[in-house]
Amino acid sequence: MKFVIGNWKMNGSREILRGMIQQVDGLRPENRVVLCVPFTLLGEKSKNIAFGAQDVSSHERGAYTGEVSATMLNEAGAKYVIVGHSERRMYHDETNDIVREKATRALESGITPIICVGETMDERRAGKTMDVITAMVRESVPANVRDDIIIAYEPRWAIGVGVTPTPDEVMHAHGVIADTLSYMGLGGTPILYGGGVNVENIDDIVAVENVGGVLVGGASLKPEEFIPIIQSVK
Ligand code: PGA
Repeated sequence: MKFVIGNWKMNGSREILRGMIQQVDGLRPENRVVLCVPFTLLGEKSKNIAFGAQDVSSHERGAYTGEVSATMLNEAGAKYVIVGHSERRMYHDETNDIVREKATRALESGITPIICVGETMDERRAGKTMDVITAMVRESVPANVRDDIIIAYEPRWAIGVGVTPTPDEVMHAHGVIADTLSYMGLGGTPILYGGGVNVENIDDIVAVENVGGVLVGGASLKPEEFIPIIQSVK
């Protein structure tokens, strides 16, 4: 079963979410549909959509004003949480160590972390893509994982700009990530592609070997774009 995961970032409203739920609940998806919404929108119920958050504190509890813990997310109904999204790594200086801590807190609370990795344009130009993503996977995934995790390969230069790597480039990157995970004893972990996924490119992307689904940003906000993507992924 492949994943179609939407990342709403700091967009949307309860009204927009309810409209999306109503439409997606009228489908018979052949995949696992997840919406990672802002914290304040958690708590809705849906037949076809599981909900997730976009970040979690690396701490269990305490004096961390403004942070939200994994146990709180669990109580609010989140089954998934994105950790280490490139926007968190860029704007909040999240390192692999912090991402690993966050993933650990999620697992302790029974929440599946969606751990994001991906190279910058400079790293790509320097021919370092494979080294960078291998190191990110090794360092961002908690040791001794026994529960489910998800990896999302999101080349930073492809996020939010409508440019995507070629299917060959996706295949190569996913192959390297799959090998790294097998080496770590985590063979079979779903590896999603994210960055510029839309109705036009979804078929080519999901056909690539080792692509276990997609992480969709902009196109997950509108039912007329998200629903055809859900229906294309089998
Ligand atoms: P995008 O975002 O689909 O708008 O490129 C993807 C993401 O940031 O997860």
